[in-house]
Amino acid sequence: MRIPEQVKRLAIVIGVLVALTLVARFVLIPRSLTSTSLHWSLTTQRESAKPVKFAGSTACQDCHDDIAAKKAKSFHRVLACEGCHAPSVKHAEDPSAAKPVIPRDRTTCARCHAYDPSRPTGFPQINLTTHNPLKSCSTCHNPHDPVPPKVPKECAACHAQIERTKAVSSHALLTCTTCHKAPERHKTAPRTALPSKPDSREFCATCHGQGRAGTPKEAPKVDIATHGARNLCWECHYPHLPEGRP
Ligand code: HEC
Ligand code: HEC
Ligand code: HEC
Ligand code: HEC
Ligand code: HEC
Ligand code: HEC
Ligand code: HEC
Ligand code: HEC
Repeated sequence: MRIPEQVKRLAIVIGVLVALTLVARFVLIPRSLTSTSLHWSLTTQRESAKPVKFAGSTACQDCHDDIAAKKAKSFHRVLACEGCHAPSVKHAEDPSAAKPVIPRDRTTCARCHAYDPSRPTGFPQINLTTHNPLKSCSTCHNPHDPVPPKVPKECAACHAQIERTKAVSSHALLTCTTCHKAPERHKTAPRTALPSKPDSREFCATCHGQGRAGTPKEAPKVDIATHGARNLCWECHYPHLPEGRP
């Protein structure tokens, strides 16, 4: 049986293509592009030549065992030190040569705790603009053992709105009765026995007055004689959210 002419020509074309492909594959393309083992060893060399930046999650506990032990029992036990303090291998090798970053800004914590509907339900999240605005998170939460402080809720049953507002303010930790003397009867028959309310600038000065003895250290101070002198303090600061909105 005769092979048709066109099939022979086609066979020649295919033969030439196969030959060219083999030449290209084994002669023209360098081995470094085709050999996986060469590729592997070159990449490993390149990557391991880069300077190491992370000391690793166990390096810090040698010297900071108190903090490491505290964190190991806390809500933050799964977090690496350098996740917040930035890569710190220089510091771990020689503490006096470099200091790690201390992330006091709110954005570090917001990375994980700012409200985001895609986070799992039950993960502790906050609204960044209303949750104690303008304050560093670590003034109220120890970053190495973050327990939400206990907010007094003694009057929340009837004054829930005020209680919730205050819980996210810098007055979060003050009890209602620091500022309102509430008779026991107010809790059962509220309108027959109203609590007291602060009635003078002097009241707030007991904690915020500059140069006064016995004021709490954490309370920021103002000069009572000049600061907003012609008005009562709560004409400018809502006492249940004194810092106002940013
Ligand atoms: C070889 C011991 C050693 C190791 C390892 C070490 N530190 Fe330190 N660290 C120190 C010393 C010493 C200080 C200085 C304390 C001081 O000045 O009061 C310090 C201070 C710090 C500070 C405070 C810096 C400042 O500005 O006050 C931070 C934060 C810190 N270390 C984080 C880390 C982290 C994170 C690691 C792990 C990657 C680590 N350290 C590993 C010894 C060490
Ligand atoms: C969730 C973030 C976070 C993690 C995780 C974290 N830190 Fe901190 N760390 C902070 C913040 C914020 C401060 C500053 C606290 C303040 O305002 O006083 C701080 C302060 C420090 C300080 C200096 C002040 C002090 O308290 O003595 C050291 C030292 C330190 N951290 C070490 C560590 C070590 C070691 C680890 C891991 C075992 C670690 N941190 C894990 C956020 C973190
Ligand atoms: C890398 C992510 C991450 C960062 C950054 C981070 N946290 Fe957390 N935080 C967590 C995880 C995970 C938990 C534990 C959640 C759980 O148990 O469901 C937690 C728990 C908490 C809780 C306990 C809430 C509760 O359920 O009672 C507080 C408060 C908290 N973090 C505050 C902070 C503060 C303040 C900072 C910044 C200094 C911070 N976190 C930074 C991941 C993070
Ligand atoms: C002035 C004090 C204060 C500051 C500043 C503060 N918090 Fe809080 N935080 C609280 C109090 C009080 C609670 C508990 C509120 C409650 O029980 O209603 C709380 C609760 C939380 C919780 C738990 C929420 C939950 O649903 O379980 C997280 C997470 C948290 N704060 C993170 C942060 C972060 C992140 C920052 C900084 C951006 C911050 N906090 C700043 C006082 C503060
Ligand atoms: C059983 C519900 C209830 C409880 C519990 C309660 N209150 Fe009240 N409170 C009321 C009602 C109702 C009024 C409003 C009275 C009115 O408007 O005439 C009120 C009014 C007030 C006022 C305003 C008084 C005024 O002169 O305007 C203050 C301050 C106050 N409560 C503080 C507190 C404090 C502090 C507590 C917790 C120790 C508390 N209350 C617990 C129901 C309650
Ligand atoms: C730092 C002091 C302070 C604390 C803490 C405080 N209050 Fe007040 N409260 C005031 C002042 C000041 C006023 C306003 C007095 C005025 O307007 O004459 C006020 C007013 C009120 C009023 C009257 C209605 C209103 O909103 O003005 C109620 C009700 C009240 N407070 C309840 C509470 C409850 C409940 C708590 C605790 C969750 C609380 N307060 C905590 C200082 C405080
Ligand atoms: C028992 C003490 C106490 C009393 C009384 C008190 N405060 Fe405060 N106040 C504090 C503390 C403590 C803080 C700061 C909390 C923190 O930073 O963690 C604060 C914070 C503030 C701030 C926020 C400052 C800022 O920018 O962060 C203002 C404003 C303020 N108070 C106003 C008042 C006014 C107005 C009164 C009177 C109605 C008052 N306070 C009564 C303890 C007190
Ligand atoms: C006329 C309005 C006005 C009055 C009245 C007023 N304040 Fe202020 N206060 C402000 C403003 C605005 C700020 C923020 C700007 C600043 O720091 O001066 C402020 C800031 C503050 C701060 C924060 C200071 C800091 O360093 O963070 C405190 C605390 C404070 N006031 C307490 C008081 C007390 C207590 C009274 C009553 C004795 C009072 N204020 C009366 C307007 C007022």
